[in-house]
Formats: sequence, structure tokens, C-alpha cells
Amino acid sequence: MQSLDEIRKMVEEKFISVGQIERYKHTLGVGKMALTLANQYGIDPTKALLAAYLHDFCKYDSLEEITSLLDPKDIEECESYPVLYHSYASAQYYKKYIGKDEEVYEAIRNHVFGRLHMTRLEEIILISDYTEENRMYPNCIKVRETLLSKDLYKAIYESTYYTIEFLKSKNINPHPLQMEVLKYYEGKCKQ
Ligand SMILES: [Fe+2]
Ligand SMILES: [Fe+2]
Repeated sequence: MQSLDEIRKMVEEKFISVGQIERYKHTLGVGKMALTLANQYGIDPTKALLAAYLHDFCKYDSLEEITSLLDPKDIEECESYPVLYHSYASAQYYKKYIGKDEEVYEAIRNHVFGRLHMTRLEEIILISDYTEENRMYPNCIKVRETLLSKDLYKAIYESTYYTIEFLKSKNINPHPLQMEVLKYYEGKCKQ
């Protein structure tokens, strides 16, 4: 496998070549937050940075490039929830060209909605994506405060809640998994 810095450079070159410097900054922000959380929760920092660097890697790929990486079942799901194309494709890219670590793979794959029974690494990448320092929406700032007050479960609950509310305001149906994740973390907050 390439070194972490070679991977970061590859991501930088890819995003800059398609004029997406802001996406590169976001990626670095996710890395920074993921590293902070990895240290806080005793998770391998290399895995956290690797998943952070690659989580949006296929964001600007053509549909043709993306679907060439996905299996038919994933494509069917992505047709209903197109936001998943980039996360599923980025995870597949990781597995095909970079490494075989299942936790890193799942953290990239599930960074959009999360899922039930996530590993700590998956939780870290999910919430870092929402709360990294370049996210300036009031809801992101609020969740960042929750997270940095060391309440990871509440932060995941809140970010999921706000995302669902946002979708509803746009008349978009949330993914069933988002509703499940909301309920699951609501329960976790009460434990
Ligand atoms: Fe993403
Ligand atoms: Fe992202």
C-alpha cells in the first residue's frame, strides 16, 4: 500500500485536477477531526486518516466510472439514493486499488448515512464528515460543540436529525437507514 502521504497527495491531485479545491480542504478537515477523535477514542490513527482521505474520492467521477466499480445491488440502491454513489464507489476503489482493511472499507462506504452497529471508526468518519472545521452551517457548528464536549452518540443523533429535517424541507424522503440510525442513537443517548 502507498504511504498515507502518497494517498493524501493522490487525493489532492485528483480534486485539484477537477477544480475542487474546496473538496480537498474538506477532506483535510475530515482527516483532522478524525485524527482528534481517533486519539480520543483509542482508534488506529492511520486507519482514521486513510478512511478520511478517501471517503469522497469518487465524488466527481462520471456515472460510468462509478458504476464500473459497483455491483448490481449497490447500483439499484444508488439509483434511489444517488448521494450513495460516491461513498460506495470510493469504498470499492479503496478495496480494489489501495488496501483490504474491512473497517476502513466500511467507514468509507457508510459515511453518508451511517448504519446500525457501526464500529468506532465508522462513527468517527461519519461524524467528522459533518463536523470538520470547514463546515460553517449553524447546525454543523452546534453538532461540533456537542462532539467536542465528548458526547459522540449525541453528536451522531443530532447530525442525523438535522440531515433528516433538511431532506424533509426539500420534500426528499430520508433513506430508511437514516430513520433507523436516528432511533438507534436516540436510544444510545439514554443509556
Ligand atoms: Fe461524502
Ligand atoms: Fe465528505
